[in-house]
Amino acid sequence: MIKVAFFDCKAYDKPSFESYGQLKEIEFKFFETKLTEDTVDLAKDSDVVCVFVNDTVNAAVIDKLYSYGIKMIALRCAGYNNVDVKHCYGKIHVSHVPAYSPYAVAEHAMALLLTSVRRIHKAYNRTREFNFSLNGLTGFDLHGKTVGVVGTGKIGRIFIDICKGFGMNVLAYDKFPDENSGLNYVSLEELMRSSDIISLHCPLTDETRHLVNSDSIALMKKGVIILNTSRGALIDAEALLEGIKARKVGAACLDVYEEEADIFFEDRSGHILNDELLARLISMPNVIVTSHQAFLTEDALNNIAQTTIDNILSYYEKDGMCDNELCYRCGNIEECKKSRKQRCF
Ligand code: NAI
Repeated sequence: MIKVAFFDCKAYDKPSFESYGQLKEIEFKFFETKLTEDTVDLAKDSDVVCVFVNDTVNAAVIDKLYSYGIKMIALRCAGYNNVDVKHCYGKIHVSHVPAYSPYAVAEHAMALLLTSVRRIHKAYNRTREFNFSLNGLTGFDLHGKTVGVVGTGKIGRIFIDICKGFGMNVLAYDKFPDENSGLNYVSLEELMRSSDIISLHCPLTDETRHLVNSDSIALMKKGVIILNTSRGALIDAEALLEGIKARKVGAACLDVYEEEADIFFEDRSGHILNDELLARLISMPNVIVTSHQAFLTEDALNNIAQTTIDNILSYYEKDGMCDNELCYRCGNIEECKKSRKQRCF
C-alpha cells in the first residue's frame, strides 16, 4: 500500500481521489492544513506527499520531507511556482498534472469577461430584490473588440478559440511563439497598447512576475479590461488598484491574487479581512474576484485525481519513469533527460 499525505484537502477533493485511490491500492491521509514548515511533520511515515497551489514546498520543507524518506511530491495542479524544484533535484521526484481541463479555465475566463462586460453580477443582485431597473447596466459588444492573450499554451489557445467564436480580433504574445499556429503574434508592448481586453495565460516566473505593473498599465488603452486566471503575482495589485482609481483600467476580473495563499479557498465571511488591498479591489464596482475557482469542474477534478494517481503509480510500477515528472532541467534542450526518455535523476 502506498501511503500518501494529502495536504490542503477540501471537501470537493476527497470523492474523486478516494474512488480512484481505492482501485489502485493507494491509501490517502487527508489533512485540511496546508503543507508548511510547521506542518511538515504530518508527512512522517508517508511515501508521497500530494500538494496544491498554496502549499509551501521550499528548501526547508523539502529537506524535512527527504529526511522522512518521502520519495515523491505529487502536485495535483499544473503550476509549480510554489515548489523549489531545483532543491528537489537528486532528492525527491516531483510530478504535476500538466492539463486536467484547460477548457475549465478558459471557459471561466470567458465567464468572468461576460459577467463584467454585461454587468451580470449587478443584475443578479438587483432582480433578487425585485429591482428591475437597467440604469448602469449598459455593456458593450465583444464582437469586433481586440483581445490580447499573453501565453498561448493549452489554456490560452482554447480561450483564443472561444474569443474567435465571439468574432473578436486576437493578438497574441508568447515567449516561445508557435509560428505554425496562424496566430497573430505581436510584441508584449504592442499587445498592451492595442488590446481592449488583456487575458493572462502564462506561467508565473521571475520574468513574468508583475507583468502588469504601473508601466505596462500606462501603455494600455483607457478602459482596458484585465483578466487573470493564471497566477496572482502576474499582476502588481497595487498598480492595478491605482489604474482603476485613475479610470484607466475599465474593469478587472481576477481568479487569482498575489497574496491569496492565506485567504482564498476558505469561508472568511465572519471575519474582518486583513488584506486592505484585496478588500479595496473587491469594493470596486468594476472588479470581479473569484477565489481560484477556474479549474473547478467535475471533469477537471476527475482528471486531476486520475493523473495524480497515475503519476504516483508510474514511480512505483514503471521504474520511476513518469511523463509528468518535473525538474529544473526540464525543457532545457541540452540537459533535459526526460526528452531523451530517461528519468530526470
Ligand atoms: P501551458 O504550459 O500549456 O502554456 C503556458 C504558455 O505560456 C506557453 O505557451 C509558454 O510558452 C508561455 N510562456 C512561458 N513563459 C512566458 C513568458 N515569459 N511570457 C509569455 N508567455 C510565456 O500552460 P497552461 O496549461 O495553458 O496554463 C497556463 C497557466 O494557467 C498555468 O501556468 C497556471 O499558472 C494557470 N492555471 C490556473 C488555474 C486556475 O484554476 N486559475 C488552473 C490551471 C492553470
